[in-house]
Amino acid sequence: MTATVTDMQDPTIIAAAHALEAGQLVAFPTETVYGLGADAENPAAVAAIYAAKGRPQDHPVIVHLAPGAPLDYWAADIPSEAHQLAAAFWPGPLTMILKRAVNIPDAVSGGQDTVGIRCPSHPVAIALLQAFKDGKGGVAAPSANKFGHVSPTTAQHVRDEFGDDPRLASVLDGGQSAVGIESTIVDLSRLASHGPVLLRPGHISAEAIAAVIDRMPARADSAAPRASGTLESHYAPHTPVAMQDTAALADTLARLAITGSKVALIHYSVLPATHAAVQLPATPEGFAHALYAALRSMDGSGADVILVEAPPQEGAWLGVNDRLRRAAHGSSGIVHGLINNTPAL
Ligand code: TXA
Ligand code: MG
Repeated sequence: MTATVTDMQDPTIIAAAHALEAGQLVAFPTETVYGLGADAENPAAVAAIYAAKGRPQDHPVIVHLAPGAPLDYWAADIPSEAHQLAAAFWPGPLTMILKRAVNIPDAVSGGQDTVGIRCPSHPVAIALLQAFKDGKGGVAAPSANKFGHVSPTTAQHVRDEFGDDPRLASVLDGGQSAVGIESTIVDLSRLASHGPVLLRPGHISAEAIAAVIDRMPARADSAAPRASGTLESHYAPHTPVAMQDTAALADTLARLAITGSKVALIHYSVLPATHAAVQLPATPEGFAHALYAALRSMDGSGADVILVEAPPQEGAWLGVNDRLRRAAHGSSGIVHGLINNTPAL
């Protein structure tokens, strides 16, 4: 069943909340990407998420809470920095890793002693979280895609991923996700020894976090807790993805044309019109908003390679560059292989 929700009291929200309470899965929109939700306190329901996604058991899932829900039910030894960040950015696209409280089943934390918590700002997500267990529950939800694949930013993307999977009771439709890439993840679980650590860059920057807690988060290292979003290959379409600097783009396209390769191009600079190209906005926010939908539509175009104009390296593009690097991981040699035998132009 798919529901378009416009009214906060919509019976489809109530039905979806009841489905979660009954141990079923519900996909719902958030401002970042769509989530595949289950009751965080029901280990069998959480196990169904892993099965539906094909996700390894030791990768923890984020617990989503309604605005104002008490954090100390879910997390222990909460530092004051967590309260400051919640006050500044929740509801919104920030996930905090905290020490886990006893109420968190092993299935949610992937066996780690921490838990990821976030309070999303999408009105449909908030309505669902408020209806579920009278706003006192937590909804465990990874992005609603098969493990390693591109995250969904529309209800149709979710249906494309899971089709008629009987574990999925409903897909709530909240339009296209505004942010378009997954939440920023900051680890506050080892503040005393490691300080704050940025596990996944996103719309809320390290600088914005530092401005609130007066400490600049360090970038994740190998000692940080495991996050599947930090795997080298992730967020990837089935078609190989290759990055090209703007200066080399025209030359590479010309060479690929000689080989007869079918190229799908994602760019942000103004270029002469090509057969299969999507031009994304030239701002980090606009590019992030449209990126996953572009990758998905190019993936369905039958191209041999998805060529992406590499965005600038500067700070505000960190989240976008992080996702693109992982999407392209493993296919970096593809363009070289395709144009290897073309003569110099
Ligand atoms: O924007 C988002 O965060 C979306 C929406 C649906 O909320 N969710 C999302 O979930 O991206 P997922 O599971 O696809 O990515 C969550 C990341 C994973 O890399 C996971 O390993 C990490 O968060 N994570 C969750 N709990 C963690 C923990 N206790 N310690 C370290 N990493 C954790
Ligand atoms: Mg994911």
